[in-house]
Amino acid sequence: MNQSQPKNPAETYEHYFVPAMFLPWATILLRHAAPQSRERVLDVACGTGIVARQAAPSVGTDGQVAALDMNPAMLAVARALPAPSGATINWQEGNAMALPFPDGAFDVVLCQHGLQFVPDRIGAVREMRRVLASGGRALIIVLQALTRHPVFEALMESVAGHLSLPVSAVMTPFALSDADELRTVFTAAGFKKVDILPESTTVRFPEPEHFVPLAVISSAAAVPAFAKLQAPARAALLEAVRVEVEPVVRRYRDAEAVTFPMFAYIVVATA
Ligand SMILES: C[S@@+](CC[C@H](N)C(=O)[O-])C[C@H]1O[C@@H](n2cnc3c(N)ncnc32)[C@H](O)[C@@H]1O
Repeated sequence: MNQSQPKNPAETYEHYFVPAMFLPWATILLRHAAPQSRERVLDVACGTGIVARQAAPSVGTDGQVAALDMNPAMLAVARALPAPSGATINWQEGNAMALPFPDGAFDVVLCQHGLQFVPDRIGAVREMRRVLASGGRALIIVLQALTRHPVFEALMESVAGHLSLPVSAVMTPFALSDADELRTVFTAAGFKKVDILPESTTVRFPEPEHFVPLAVISSAAAVPAFAKLQAPARAALLEAVRVEVEPVVRRYRDAEAVTFPMFAYIVVATA
């Protein structure tokens, strides 16, 4: 990486993946959510806070923004970034399955690429509904099927193969990609009106030589078989994956960047 070398996975996430991928999705999510002046917004599984930072200017200084994540390293990066204009963001460590907020505390609950990772999804969505005021809205965004994302499909198949795991063990970001399942989760959690909207964007990863190793490290970090690899074995795996996925990545790569379309569903649910 260049002069602003990230030091840990949360910093790599913020420096590399947020501008390339999570900012474009946040822009789309916020367009649907359209937070208004004085509204109270909660960003669940906020990571380094891109959604919360995008929402703060819209609700203004009379509004409120809370942002919750279970990973203190992500929150540390979030807190260290320059504050946006508008509402002061209340960064909070906690679990989406047990939100540390009273009933009816928010007008808008947002969750960007987070619900896939939560073991009890219905429980987490029930919590979103509990903290929404009557008539409030929840908007969550999750990726569509892995098969719609050939670069990530090649990456995840390769990683799984080298770890002797099924692809399902490494594809959590794509694990909630079925629109019917999404509707069932939100209905079971008590939301009456649930709309599921397909969306797409183009993501652009600069410094293309870094794309494969950073994507593998970030997506496989939570996979125990990967996490426990010693440095030489990890380096060997990264190189093997790089060679294996090169024919697919080449289709989307030029000297400047790896660029490809991505597809997601936005769930808009009214309490
Ligand atoms: C792919 S990141 C998305 C972060 C952020 N929403 C964004 O768009 O950049 C997924 C985040 O979900 C968080 N997460 C996973 N399970 C969680 C849970 N049960 N409660 C709270 N946060 C959770 C992780 O710590 C991680 O920061």
